[in-house]
Amino acid sequence: MASIVAYCRAGFEADAASELDAACAGLELFGYSQFVPGQGYVAFELYDAQTLQHASQSIRLDALVFVRQLIFCPYHFTALPKRDRIGALELDTFVLPKAGVLRVEHPESDDGKELSTFCRKFTVPLRLAMRQHDLLSKKENPALATIHVFFTDGESAFVGFSHPNNASPFPLGIMRLKFPADAPSRSTLKLDEAIQSLLSEKERQRWFKAGNSAVDLGACPGGWTYQLVRRNMRVEAVDNGAMDDALMETGLVSYYAEDGFKYRPQKGRVDVLVCDMIERPDRVAKLMSQWVIEQWCNVAVFNLKLPMKKRAAAIDEIKTQIVQQFSDAGRTATLRIKHLYHDRDEVTAVLFS
Ligand SMILES: C[S@@+](CC[C@H](N)C(=O)[O-])C[C@H]1O[C@@H](n2cnc3c(N)ncnc32)[C@H](O)[C@@H]1O
Repeated sequence: MASIVAYCRAGFEADAASELDAACAGLELFGYSQFVPGQGYVAFELYDAQTLQHASQSIRLDALVFVRQLIFCPYHFTALPKRDRIGALELDTFVLPKAGVLRVEHPESDDGKELSTFCRKFTVPLRLAMRQHDLLSKKENPALATIHVFFTDGESAFVGFSHPNNASPFPLGIMRLKFPADAPSRSTLKLDEAIQSLLSEKERQRWFKAGNSAVDLGACPGGWTYQLVRRNMRVEAVDNGAMDDALMETGLVSYYAEDGFKYRPQKGRVDVLVCDMIERPDRVAKLMSQWVIEQWCNVAVFNLKLPMKKRAAAIDEIKTQIVQQFSDAGRTATLRIKHLYHDRDEVTAVLFS
């Protein structure tokens, strides 16, 4: 048996499993997904271990909204002895792609977090042993595959790999960001993470550069505007609430107490639209598509609040709706959606044409 292990936020296992099931079915990879709610990961057991290689080349992490990291595991250990876990792994029998990085990881659940100190300490001797067995390059090399040893408790671990072009570069698949002390709200981290993780370097430099213009719908108190101002962009902040005084004093922000669904950019267009209004996701998606189709902005970054259940199905509906809206206008859409680390019951999307 071989497994595909998908890391996700605790509580979102059913959503990650439903996406993984659909991705595997579409690629004729047969098996079933298993999870316990709240455990922070899903394991898809492949009936035919030989199909693991095909899976690793064809399932795309960036197409899965609720999955933070995907690892392809030929090995699953369930009774590792506390005294000699490395010996019990039998590294000389491993067949894995030559790797440049080792990650010893754990689920991001309450139980899983208790393993973090152990995982950190275990990394050093395991790395040495893996180098001795020629499983890892002598020097760390992120251009090669990563070996993941994913402990689900003190004696059980999946061992597998990810390829750098189809993996999150961060431990546990989590981009950790420091909250800037002068930011007006914690949701500032959502936009920062979205800009850093959903856009390529080139896209970031083109759209989020100094001097560019933006509209922020649902801007108050200003956490998202803060990220734009930090990048020296000019911002039209739209909301009925009160904006952070320090942001207004930068001279880069103009404030409009208007309805975000009716607002149009002051000079007809801007480079970037961001939107964090708490509203029905289909309404927000329709508005975002309209802005991009009408070319009122080049790119839209927005949050979609999720229903409590069947979240993956709700996202599928939104995707279909957006694609349809663009196709009716004779245009094609590039849409990326991810459940970011700093998102809770919401996902973040990037849309451009
Ligand atoms: C989650 S908060 C935004 C937080 C903000 N992004 C930040 O980082 O500080 C949602 C905001 O959307 C605003 N809002 C909701 N519906 C709106 C609408 N139709 N037009 C304008 N603002 C709206 C609310 O007043 C609220 O301030």
